[in-house]
Amino acid sequence: MEIKKVGVIGCGLMGSGIAEVAARAGYGVVVREVNDDLLQKGLARIQKSLSTAAAKAKITPDEAAQAWARIQGTLSLAGFADCDLVVEAAVENMALKKALFAELDGILPPHAILASNTSSLCVTEMASVTRRGDQVLGIHFFNPVPVMPLIEFVRTILTSDETMATARQFGASLNKTMVTAKDTPGFIVNRLLIPYLLDAVRVYDEGLATREDIDTAIKLGLNHPMGPLTLLDFVGVDTTLFIADAMFEEYKDPRYAAPPLLRRMVLAGQVGRKCGKGFYDYR
Ligand code: 3HC
Repeated sequence: MEIKKVGVIGCGLMGSGIAEVAARAGYGVVVREVNDDLLQKGLARIQKSLSTAAAKAKITPDEAAQAWARIQGTLSLAGFADCDLVVEAAVENMALKKALFAELDGILPPHAILASNTSSLCVTEMASVTRRGDQVLGIHFFNPVPVMPLIEFVRTILTSDETMATARQFGASLNKTMVTAKDTPGFIVNRLLIPYLLDAVRVYDEGLATREDIDTAIKLGLNHPMGPLTLLDFVGVDTTLFIADAMFEEYKDPRYAAPPLLRRMVLAGQVGRKCGKGFYDYR
């Protein structure tokens, strides 16, 4: 099956990145948000990212203009009727995702693939509300999407070989390296990342070292681009807590139990870079 048009649900940080890389790869893209304010913010983020890529000579100004021209924003799902692939990047709420999957199942052409960019929720549960379980999978991108070279595919026990082959063609066309994981909480990356981030919060909270020294130790000692507390602020303290809770819920393993400080930071609204304060102050 050849993918020509890609639908993206959600134009937040992940959705806008996915729309951008798909448009840069030559696909027609329709991206949907829930209100005009969020849509305009998301589209502006894509436009800025394309301009930056052109300014840094990663793409030509002409390529940036062509990619921008391929992207159409919408507030409805009606424009998805001729999509060959839809990547859902809405908020991490299973009830919402299931409602979207059920509705999209009725709108999309029979051959279309339905994918979720979820970081930790059960893809099989999303597939269960559609009549196309064999054409449902997880396509997990990493933030920032235009920069991070990985795609993690999540294959459920229903996903067909044909769907996986088409998804791989799509991933290759975006110039991403692909790995495949079973539909289990956290897949590969978050399964390993979350206990590490939670441990960083535990050692910080118990006073092992300052936040700067914890980050510097990992950054320079292990050659990571960011230390764990900086990465937590980058990913979002709330997002990390959500993933940890989802993983703990299924595994009941203390490795995924959120440390009290993490939950209290979310309650206090200190969710990281996006709000100006997390482990560090960005204001
Ligand atoms: N969009 C496009 N390009 C971006 C960008 C963005 N949002 N942010 C940074 N870049 C580009 C810059 O333009 C720059 O390009 P250049 O080298 O060609 O000039 C390059 O990335 C490096 O950026 P900077 O020089 O500004 O800053 P850094 O060297 O510190 O890199 C970073 C920034 C790429 C974010 C790097 O710090 C990094 O890789 N951090 C780790 C990110 C990470 O781990 N992401 C995964 C999070 S987990 C996840 O997403 C899964 C989820 O389920 C939780």
